[in-house]
This record gives sequence, structure tokens and C-alpha cells, in this order.
Amino acid sequence: MKPIEIKGRIQIKGSVEVPGDKSISHRAIMLGSISHGTTKIDNFLEGEDCLRTVNAFRLMGVPITMSGSQVWIEGKGIQALKEPHEPIYFGNSGTTARLMLGLLASIPFSTFVYGDESLTNRPMDRVLLPLKEMGLQYIGRKNSSFLPLALKGGDLKGITYKMNVKSAQVKSAILLAGLFAQNKTKVIEDVKTRNHTENMLQAFGANIIVDGNEITIDSTQTLTAKDVFIPGDISSAAFLMAAAAIVPNSELTLKNIGLNPTRSGIIEVLIQMGANLFFSNEKIIGGEPIGDVHITYSPLTAVTIEGEMIPRLIDEIPIIALLATQAEGTTVIKNAEELRLKETDRIEAVVDVISRLGGKIEAREDGMIIEGKTPLQGASVITYHDHRIAMMSVIASLITQGNVETDDLSSISISYPNFLEDLHSVMKEE
Ligand code: S3P
Repeated sequence: MKPIEIKGRIQIKGSVEVPGDKSISHRAIMLGSISHGTTKIDNFLEGEDCLRTVNAFRLMGVPITMSGSQVWIEGKGIQALKEPHEPIYFGNSGTTARLMLGLLASIPFSTFVYGDESLTNRPMDRVLLPLKEMGLQYIGRKNSSFLPLALKGGDLKGITYKMNVKSAQVKSAILLAGLFAQNKTKVIEDVKTRNHTENMLQAFGANIIVDGNEITIDSTQTLTAKDVFIPGDISSAAFLMAAAAIVPNSELTLKNIGLNPTRSGIIEVLIQMGANLFFSNEKIIGGEPIGDVHITYSPLTAVTIEGEMIPRLIDEIPIIALLATQAEGTTVIKNAEELRLKETDRIEAVVDVISRLGGKIEAREDGMIIEGKTPLQGASVITYHDHRIAMMSVIASLITQGNVETDDLSSISISYPNFLEDLHSVMKEE
């Protein structure tokens, strides 16, 4: 399948409003469903992953109405949730799985949960072990570390937990469990991960205190419904920013993008690489910074990405690897071993796709090394049914000599259903 066929020279020109942030969309459904009152969500991401979260709460009896990217939730508190009469399917969604485990831990239900093939092979013990310490009972595959799982929640007690992985999903699961546990729950991070759960819990009235990298949540009887505006997803915008950064003469505006500093590593890396980038219309909505991002083509140079920067751009590493093939010098990405545990092993997948296209890239246990600047050629690539690998392959095809053929692009609907339409709308012939 050819995602796009390019005859002659093109530029990326114009303006795009990318869909709502995936991480924040999940959290808005979760908190809206357990709070009291009507939560109205604007710019909700109608991607497959977020729809899994919607279905989970519908199964537990929460009335959720959707009209395009607007959502209304009639919340009656966590006590009003009903024990699901069938297993809950999390599909491909790691965020649904891990955060829901945290919430289900605090409800006295017997619940059965499962996912697709990719999710079934992703570790759940990183959330299950702290939740067990809080009082969750469960049994599952491979020594109870993988889906499918059977859960029995309720009667949790707060814990102090020092994070041993850099994961916002783990942090969020413990905070959501702590919301209805006896006594306080404290999570200590050594490196700050995305903080959307903390921001939204504060907005919904939870007893939560954030002190640097320590977050303390006290048992909260009632959350109060809130209207939520979901910023554009910086992780989706990253693919279009990259297109403008590598296709000569491009000039692109991305509107209403979430610019939360725990997520905006891609912007810092683009600037460090020499991209021409500026912001306008900056504001804060619901604790989340938002703004328009303008980017024009300019030559790029290599960077080293490591340490505390990694969680701030973990989902952008596939597209950064593509940028690095077009940057002068050697780009090094390290401390990113978490990439091996995503929807697919993203170190192997990125190295495979970029090598097939003629890029000079080598895998390392915790990252990759890319030599630029290298012209890329058309080739057949496998997308590993991973949305971010699929979108990276499509963006690569803008600069390859010859067409890129992909096995399957259906995964793109997980996070950016209109990606190809949006990309076409800014592809202009010279
Ligand atoms: C997410 C956290 C990150 C990220 C994922 C979404 C979230 O995962 O890769 O796409 O919404 O909390 P980890 O927590 O596993 O790092």
C-alpha cells in the first residue's frame, strides 16, 4: 500500500489543528466518570485508544454521550459505578489498561480485563505490584504480571511509593488508587514524567499536593465535575512539525497545541537541531499551557538526547530518529530502554524501517545512533501495527527518492484518525 504518492517537488505549507491530546482525553473520561455532575469535554480525541476508555465506563453504567469531539458525562461518583457484567477490553491502549487498574483497585468489584496481542505482551506488574501493596487482589498470566487479569478491588490503604520506572502511567495508577484509599498515598519520582493526572485531579477538587517530584494524595470523598478543553496533541503535531523541518521551503502553523513542559521535549530538540520555530497565542487552560506553533524549514544538525529529557519526548523518538537522518552529524539517543516496552519494541522497529529506507542507524540496548545527513530511498516497510511507526513511515515518504510502501496503516486511527487528510491538506506542489 502506498500511503502517498509524490510526483515532483512538494512543500509543507498552511495550517492544521491537530486532534486532542490522547493522554488528557483518557484522563478527562476517567475523572468525569467518577465525579459528581456533568462534565463537558471539548476537543476530545476520537481515537481508538480513548474510545476503549469510554467503553470501559459505559460498561460500568456511566452515561457518556458523544457528538464529534464533544463529550458529555453524567457522573454520580465512584460509588455509582456498576460491576461490569462482561470482561473489559482495553484493545491496544496501555494508558487505559494501567490507569484503569488503578481505579478498579479501589472499587469492591470482581473485574476481568484483557487486551489485544500487543497489550497482552506489555508488562502490567509495574502497576500491579504497588497496587497489591495497597490491597488489590488479582491473578493473571505469567505469574500474574500480564493481561488477561482477574481483579478484586476495594479497601485500599495508602502507601509511599518510590518509582522504579519512569512512567506516568504507573504514577497515575497509584494516584487514582490513592484517591479512594485510607490515609495518604505518596509517589516519589526521580525524573518528572507527564503531569496531566495531577493537573486534572487538582481541577476536579482532589486533595492532592505536588511538591517538586513528590506527589501526595489524600482520600477524597467527592470529585466535582468540570468542563475540560483538551489541547491539541503535541505527540501528533510532532509528525507534521517534522515534515516541515525536513521538506525544503516549508512553512507550517499548528494551532492550539499542548505545550506542557513535561511533554514539550520535541520542541526543545527541534530548536537545538536548528529548526526555525516560534509560538503565538499562548495561554493556560485547565492548568495546561497551550499555544500555536509556527515552524519553517531550515538545515538541521545532530543532537544527543538522554536523561531527564527522555520521558518528556518518549513517544516522539521514532520521528526524531527520522529527523536525525536529515541532520548533519551523529545523533545519539540513550537512556530510552522504555521504548522496548511500547506498542512494539520501538528501538527494533525504528532501526528496521529507517535501515530499509537507506538511513544509517544502529540499535543500542537503551536507544540508537543515527548518522546524517543521508538521502533516503523508497522501499517496502513494516509498520508493526504501531501508530507512531506508521506515521513516521508516511512522513519519511515525503523525502524519499521513490515511493514508500507500507504493509498496514490502520494503526494510525489509534491516536490520529485524520492524519493522512491533514497531511494532504498542507502538501503543496512547488
Ligand atoms: C502515557 C504515558 C507514557 C506514554 C504513553 C501515554 C500516559 O507511557 O508513552 O503514550 O498517558 O500516561 P509510560 O507511562 O509507559 O511512559
